[in-house]
Amino acid sequence: MDGEVRHLVGLLLGTEEDWPRAFEHLTAGLGAIPDGTGRRHTFATERLTIEPFSLRSKPRTDLVIDRLAYWYYHPREWLKKVALMDDVYVLNSPFTFQAMEKHAAYCAMMRLGLKVPETVLVPYKNPVDHDKYAYTTQRYNQPFDLDAIAAQIGYPLYMKPYDGGGWRGVSRVGNADELHSAYNSSGEMLMHLQASVDYDVFTRALSIGAETMVMRFDPAAPMHERYRVEYDFLGPETGAEVIAISRVVNAFFRWEFNSCEMLVKGREVYPIDYANACPDVALTSLHYYFPWAIKALVKWTVFCLATGRRARLDTDTRAYFEISDQAGLDYRQKLDRYAALADAHFAAAEYYDFCAAHLADLDQRVLDWASGPEFDRLIVDTVRATYPTGEHDRFIEHFRGLTGLWVRDETARLSA
Ligand SMILES: Nc1ncnc2c1ncn2[C@@H]1O[C@H](COP(=O)(O)OP(=O)(O)OP(=O)(O)O)[C@@H](O)[C@H]1O
Ligand SMILES: [Mg+2]
Repeated sequence: MDGEVRHLVGLLLGTEEDWPRAFEHLTAGLGAIPDGTGRRHTFATERLTIEPFSLRSKPRTDLVIDRLAYWYYHPREWLKKVALMDDVYVLNSPFTFQAMEKHAAYCAMMRLGLKVPETVLVPYKNPVDHDKYAYTTQRYNQPFDLDAIAAQIGYPLYMKPYDGGGWRGVSRVGNADELHSAYNSSGEMLMHLQASVDYDVFTRALSIGAETMVMRFDPAAPMHERYRVEYDFLGPETGAEVIAISRVVNAFFRWEFNSCEMLVKGREVYPIDYANACPDVALTSLHYYFPWAIKALVKWTVFCLATGRRARLDTDTRAYFEISDQAGLDYRQKLDRYAALADAHFAAAEYYDFCAAHLADLDQRVLDWASGPEFDRLIVDTVRATYPTGEHDRFIEHFRGLTGLWVRDETARLSA
């Protein structure tokens, strides 16, 4: 089958300008990519706009990278329509995220035997603003002893919304006074109480399709210093475990663009936050890792479209539960089996073969871009749009330094 197949990639964006510009630039330079069957694939991008649509209209896009629909219903419903009716490939599918907030993700991973810290869901502090609900609360809500629950979990603990994100409503609770004050101010937010993990290392793993980057993270640092540039900060076994957990979480829920936070104490890995519909990929926070992230997004997009990968809107929980329910398997053995399911879901072997065969020059092209003027302009423009004027010079140098370090490391890697 000869011929050229054109693909249009839609970007559904919020306020960000950095990664879309990078993605558009790299995609525009892809040229025609053969797929081994005689066909050649070309790629264009378009920023999607919000407008009325007929449910029967045909979309022009073949794949959408979504950064918006988690918060806004109109684009979300459009995504559902194009996923259901037109087989548009969506990173991430709104079907997988709408029902899967932190709470559901905790439940599923506990069922798989992962070491999610002890977590309790408590009823709303204030009844939600609805006549019938107030009546129901009055009539059916059981009184409960918040102090006793907290004492059972142990102080310090974390109180956080069941569906949180961006630290909204998160507090570290050290004693009974703080417990009551946090609960009283939770209002209509539905809260978890969670045992705190006294960790040695905080890791954040960003997964894009079949690839995962594990980064050391410092949640207490200012935004531009949270991701630390460190290598081998976990032993090989724990490092592999962190990667396996990230992939299993993502394959289980069919998430293809997600970050997973895990706290590591000794050799134990505790996942605490892994349902991020729009994971952080800002240049000003990822810095060193930014070129990797954009390259992975481009590669996964090309792989999905050129190989005709079909999106899965359903999950396959039973395959995982059949493993988790086997009494004879220990944690490690289960994790290995889940990881095999995850590799199969992401077609990991095919993905790496495809990249080696058809995208072999992309590493060098991304390196040239990251060391060239286009990338430097991106740094300058992003800093100017993000920080107050007096801080521009300092931050431009800061991000030039960190991304320059990536350029050095990547140059060494490619010439090795
Ligand atoms: N069980 C825990 N043990 C130790 N620290 C925790 C725990 N839960 C949360 N934290 C701390 O609180 C922070 C925010 O919690 P969490 O990640 O669950 O909320 P979030 O709103 O999703 O935040 P973000 O969107 O920034 O990831 C974590 O980054 C971590 O520093
Ligand atoms: Mg978090």
